[in-house]
Amino acid sequence: MEHIVEIEKLVFGGEGIARLKNGKVVFVPFVLPHEKVKIRVAQETKDFAEAELIEVLEASPHRKEPECKYYGVCGGCQLQHIDYSAQVELKADILRDTFSRLGWKEEIPLEGCIPSPKPLFYRNRLRLHVENPPLKMGFVKRKSFEVLGIKRCLLAEESINKALEGLWESNTWKQLSVYSKRINIESSPAKKKVCMIFWTGLPPLKESLLHLVEEVPESACAFYWLRGRRPKGPFPEDAPYSGRRVFEVLPGLNYYVQPGVFMQTNWEINRLIIECLLSLGLEAESVLDLHCGMGNFLLPFAFKGLGKKFLGVDTDTRAIEDAIFTAERCGLSSVVDFQRKSALEALYEKVKLGETYELVLLDPPRGGCKELMRLLPEVARKYIVYLSCDAPTLVRDLKLLVEKGYELKKLFLFDMFPQTYHFETLALLERKE
Ligand SMILES: C[S@@+](CC[C@H](N)C(=O)[O-])C[C@H]1O[C@@H](n2cnc3c(N)ncnc32)[C@H](O)[C@@H]1O
Repeated sequence: MEHIVEIEKLVFGGEGIARLKNGKVVFVPFVLPHEKVKIRVAQETKDFAEAELIEVLEASPHRKEPECKYYGVCGGCQLQHIDYSAQVELKADILRDTFSRLGWKEEIPLEGCIPSPKPLFYRNRLRLHVENPPLKMGFVKRKSFEVLGIKRCLLAEESINKALEGLWESNTWKQLSVYSKRINIESSPAKKKVCMIFWTGLPPLKESLLHLVEEVPESACAFYWLRGRRPKGPFPEDAPYSGRRVFEVLPGLNYYVQPGVFMQTNWEINRLIIECLLSLGLEAESVLDLHCGMGNFLLPFAFKGLGKKFLGVDTDTRAIEDAIFTAERCGLSSVVDFQRKSALEALYEKVKLGETYELVLLDPPRGGCKELMRLLPEVARKYIVYLSCDAPTLVRDLKLLVEKGYELKKLFLFDMFPQTYHFETLALLERKE
């Protein structure tokens, strides 16, 4: 059934909300606040409806023509129809709205909304689904499980797109892809090359892997993942740093990251987050990073001498290997300790030993880290910095921390993911005296 509605606002997820004549909330994709649009209701429950956009009757001045030909079909982007500065403002509105919707009473101390230096071509890795025959590589279509083959992604760094072009042309990949279900193309910005890592049902021949690297000129090496905890590779076997990607963080500090290990998607924004962290002026002699990954946030503190005791923990064995590798190469191994264990395990240990840290860093996956909230106050003596890619779980966890006696001092929004509804939020909390 068709309706004409006015969009009130955008919500987390990137859709607009409006009200049908009967008062029911309806979610509409590809719109902007205050636009008048014609919609068709596609699904309805007792409490809300979901609609498709048919026509924009009164357009927002911030509407623009999307640049990508797959936009609307591909499930990757939600905001390409909005000019970039408006995207960042809308994300700030969504963040404020998430706080108030989840019962946060005070005004939030949002100190800055930092746009991505690159609104397009910013991603340093692409994960593509693979089907063959016929060969298809791409993303899942919006509201579907079907793979949409793509030749180019406007969010990916140019080296990645060139490698993707090479893969489409590669005869070796045509053969290998028959047994493969996924491929990651991950860039190594300091080397201007990419690494490829693919998930396969059959072990490929070494010669095929070497051919593949030759046929994709942007690639430095390839890995394949059959089963188990780590991929096989690199091919060629003498690839520099065992095939690790290299990122320049600060003069004298480079990161070395194995393909498949988590690295923040947008390198330029990641550097701005690190700059922000270092400039907060936190006086902390001891720093504990409970989701340290490959040392992304802890290593710069140690490198700059901001503290004396540093411990990073993470459940990913390979990320910890990279953190140790980087620490060794930049002469920090005697200062920073990295251990493979869960955040909860680390907290239990510290509580048992009666050890505390002046600064605790949290950067959990999307689900947040509610399970840490009981023990965290016994370990985090002064500051907590919480970086989150999911505003609803962040707010849930911040409310618990406030109940435990911390004060939310500062918030920063970093637009790590232009053209999509995702963003990162950094929260600084300080323990009340
Ligand atoms: C969003 S990533 C952030 C990593 C790192 N801070 C960075 O910026 O690269 C989340 C990290 O949490 C780790 N992780 C997931 N569950 C964990 C747990 N229960 N305890 C500790 N680390 C965990 C993952 O392995 C991953 O490295």
